Amino acid sequence: MERALPFAVLISGRGSNMLALAAAVAENRIAGRIVAVISDRADAAGIAEARRRGLIALVVEAARGADRAALGKELTAALERHGAGLVVLAGFMRILDAGFVRHWQGRLLNIHPSLLPAHRGLHTHRRVLEAGDPRHGCTVHFVTEELDAGPAIIQGRLVVKPGDTEQSLSARVQQLEHIIYPRAVGWFATGRLGWKDGKAIFDGRPLESPVIEDSP
Ligand code: GRF
Repeated sequence: MERALPFAVLISGRGSNMLALAAAVAENRIAGRIVAVISDRADAAGIAEARRRGLIALVVEAARGADRAALGKELTAALERHGAGLVVLAGFMRILDAGFVRHWQGRLLNIHPSLLPAHRGLHTHRRVLEAGDPRHGCTVHFVTEELDAGPAIIQGRLVVKPGDTEQSLSARVQQLEHIIYPRAVGWFATGRLGWKDGKAIFDGRPLESPVIEDSP
């Protein structure tokens, strides 16, 4: 697959989304190939899992220091060395500096466990329960300089049930993540999804609201 989109996945933890992306590549649901899995933590479980699958997995050294810009530079160097044409954040728990985000603008995706713009930031499942939200889910979006605020591409949506807990929501949201992230990366790989003038472009038109994947 010579023309397959080379992409990299950035993780900090277990890497279940990275594994869902790797499975989608293996099953030809994404016309792409993972050129590197990169973590800011040597002990991320996803690093070992990636290596077990024969993927190139790296740990960025600058993550040990406090300087955000240094981390961004080291990441960009590693990404370019491996020829990444798309950067997929999948549970990468570091805030990326503005220089990094600008450099990769339009080629940088994230997945967030809420129906953005609701509940940016951390502890989304708890906040959904506290707010009594009837629905919850996850969003794939282009990353811009403002945290969790870039143009949304696709949302997986579920109904919050009586008796739901943080754990049950987290498990159901993750199942949806594993569906919508490979789909979005697949769209990017075939050119259905792109970026122009600060907007997500889908099938040649600006995407005014995200594609919705509903689940019971
Ligand atoms: C996901 O829930 C994602 O929404 C958030 O971090 C989590 C990563 O999980 N950004 P995993 O490492 O992919 O299992």
